[in-house]
Amino acid sequence: MSATYENIVVEKDDGVTWLSLNRPEKRNAMSPQLHYEMDDALRWLAHDKDTRVLILTGKGQAFCAGQDLKLYFRETQNNPEERARAQQASNSWRWHRIVNFPKPTIAMVNGPCFGGAFTAVCACDIALAADEATFGLSEVNWGVIPGGIVSWNIAEMLSHRDAMFYAMTGLPFDGRKAAEIKLVNYSVPLADLREETLKIARILQEKNPFTLRYTKEAVRHVRGMSHDQAYNFLAAKLQALQHVDKEGGMQKGMSQFLDDKSYKPGFGAFKP
Ligand code: COA
Repeated sequence: MSATYENIVVEKDDGVTWLSLNRPEKRNAMSPQLHYEMDDALRWLAHDKDTRVLILTGKGQAFCAGQDLKLYFRETQNNPEERARAQQASNSWRWHRIVNFPKPTIAMVNGPCFGGAFTAVCACDIALAADEATFGLSEVNWGVIPGGIVSWNIAEMLSHRDAMFYAMTGLPFDGRKAAEIKLVNYSVPLADLREETLKIARILQEKNPFTLRYTKEAVRHVRGMSHDQAYNFLAAKLQALQHVDKEGGMQKGMSQFLDDKSYKPGFGAFKP
């Protein structure tokens, strides 16, 4: 199923789906309507047969300037029902729908990325940025805290020192710094970002989709588990994978390595 949206764009390219925030004139700031559209799109894309890898990005020069201060905050100030509805959709797509997306997700941070946009970046499995992108936890300058779940996101993703420093000073940082503090995997010049992101998407697209799904669920869910819980959970997960994997990935992989000698996964290191 597909739909017509005004604030976002869905573009399919041979197994890779680009999901873009599309309010470039407002630097893709997130209005209530944008949240409703993103929530809807991620719901059906999760089960869309054409989508094997999802790339989240922003149209124009920005990734996302955070919540729309006018439409999301000011205009819902006296409308608690609308505020609650927008809040629910906002938290749903930026976290639950992306984290639980059954296929690989990549955030491509092409430009400014502020406040609430951090949640969507942290929710994606992989994140790449332009060297020139600007990241900012600007909430402190607006008299608010990194809300929604942004404080939780940075506490989880960054070192305590970096989380405190950037949340408390509100100082912006670029894509290179974002890579250094591991908010993103790595950064490249803006001119190369799209091609680099697509390269990673194509690598993921070639993998067994069942194994990929179970891998992301395994890594995501063991965080916070004890050793014994993780051991038990992963054993059950591995068993379950053997049942759902219609491509017989394990048998195929072993046969390629042991019998055909056509594949050697441990050969050569990846260089971004
Ligand atoms: N909410 C509402 N409108 C926003 C916005 C936001 N978060 N971010 C940008 N806009 C609007 C601007 O008001 C401007 O609207 P106008 O053309 O009607 O005046 C338009 O988007 C373009 O923004 P502008 O500031 O001129 O673009 P820029 O490229 O010079 O700077 C940013 C881009 C993102 C660095 C800058 O807009 C900014 O700092 N935005 C606020 C980011 C923020 O703190 N977000 C967290 C909210 S909690």
